[in-house]
Amino acid sequence: MIPENALDELRAMLGERLSTGKGDLDLHGQSETWHPPMPPDAVSYPRSTQEVADIVAVCARHNVPVIGWGTGTALEGHASAPRGGVTVDFRHMAAVLEVRAEDMLVRVQPGCTREALNQELRATGMMFPVDPGANASLGGMAATRASGTTAVRYGTMRDQVRGLEVVLADGRVIRTGTLAAKTSAGYDLTSLFVGSEGTLGLITELTLRLHGQPEAISAAVCAFPDTGAAIDTVILATQMGLRPARVEFLDAATAQIINDHDGGTFEMRPHLMLEFHGSDAAVAEEAERFGALAAEAGGSGYRWATQVEDRNRLWAMRHAAYHTILASRPGSTAVVTDVCVPISRMGEAIDRAAAEIAASPIPGPILGHVGDGNYHAILLVDRSSETELAQAKRLSDAMVLHALDLGGTATGEHGVGLGKLHMMAREHGAAWDVMGAVKRALDPDGLMNPGKLVRQN
Ligand code: LAC
Ligand code: ZN
Repeated sequence: MIPENALDELRAMLGERLSTGKGDLDLHGQSETWHPPMPPDAVSYPRSTQEVADIVAVCARHNVPVIGWGTGTALEGHASAPRGGVTVDFRHMAAVLEVRAEDMLVRVQPGCTREALNQELRATGMMFPVDPGANASLGGMAATRASGTTAVRYGTMRDQVRGLEVVLADGRVIRTGTLAAKTSAGYDLTSLFVGSEGTLGLITELTLRLHGQPEAISAAVCAFPDTGAAIDTVILATQMGLRPARVEFLDAATAQIINDHDGGTFEMRPHLMLEFHGSDAAVAEEAERFGALAAEAGGSGYRWATQVEDRNRLWAMRHAAYHTILASRPGSTAVVTDVCVPISRMGEAIDRAAAEIAASPIPGPILGHVGDGNYHAILLVDRSSETELAQAKRLSDAMVLHALDLGGTATGEHGVGLGKLHMMAREHGAAWDVMGAVKRALDPDGLMNPGKLVRQN
């Protein structure tokens, strides 16, 4: 429990922007997936970097954990509070601070969501491309090194963050990176904080790269006789220099669920959904070239469109897929796998996972960002069944071990949080101990998002 005098100090500083109401605590302890609720002792709503630094300093003095909170859309329990403490909810730090059009950079506060940023950029001809599906906060996306559907073309958060302002565990405020396109000046602290999941400090400002809005966009969809044919087409298209902005895989089970829920007209087969960005001529040419490759691989029902309504309908279905799949089994929650493998090995990895899932009693539609070798089985478990949860975790662990054997990773984009912690020693070996050493150097008392990412001592 948090000491009363720590709460008094925080309340004196924040007034009503410090909450200990049960509804608020429960909201900030919950997860979108199977992780049990772990509420904090208090939720703070700072308005400035200085307030964040002051909150962290109070917590440091009283030995109280500090957990960052963006939109609560993480899938591995990242923002829950297993040891209690104070959650720092960034909803009042959501401004777009500066658009530097000529540098194609933007400075934002961490609570700004990716959709809000793109709304603000609409008239500028620029956009922020990273799209994890959820309308996540940019601070949270940087903290988890998020990616999603467009990473195949534009890269992940790792590639977008030019610099950060971070509040460290002792309340110090540092800046990492510069406005320059490159630097050779020392350790890459920006990259260290991107993906650190709030365990090294709290991100209070981000400088992000922007990209030009494409002149034209085409979207395409195609059914394939089997997973291997779909994946081989992706590999061939990549080798031939096609540069899709999105390459999404849906297995037959996902196609069926989307048909049932959204009135889709997918065949009961694996599908690829693609998007191309470029000039009118380029997107038409890429869509046609892809169509020819798909036909050679036995693809069927290939169609592509540039009309915005058709494209939006298709991608709305994809964006909602996780929640649509969850809703397909009422009363269920999900263990969401997130392995990422070299694309040369992806077909066999997906087939093996699908066979293991089929041999289990757990429904597990598979979809993913196959241009990057990253895919998810949405393992649907009855909320009240410990047995099913254990079975799903076994399936998930088997997928991870196989991915590691193939030279891949336990998590391509969702992060470690609580859910992948037990796989980190296996994935990183002694390098995980080095992560622990970094953690101890920057957070000797273990107060920043404790219980996540690194080995616990
Ligand atoms: C997606 C989430 C689950 O790809 O990462 O829909
Ligand atoms: Zn995903």
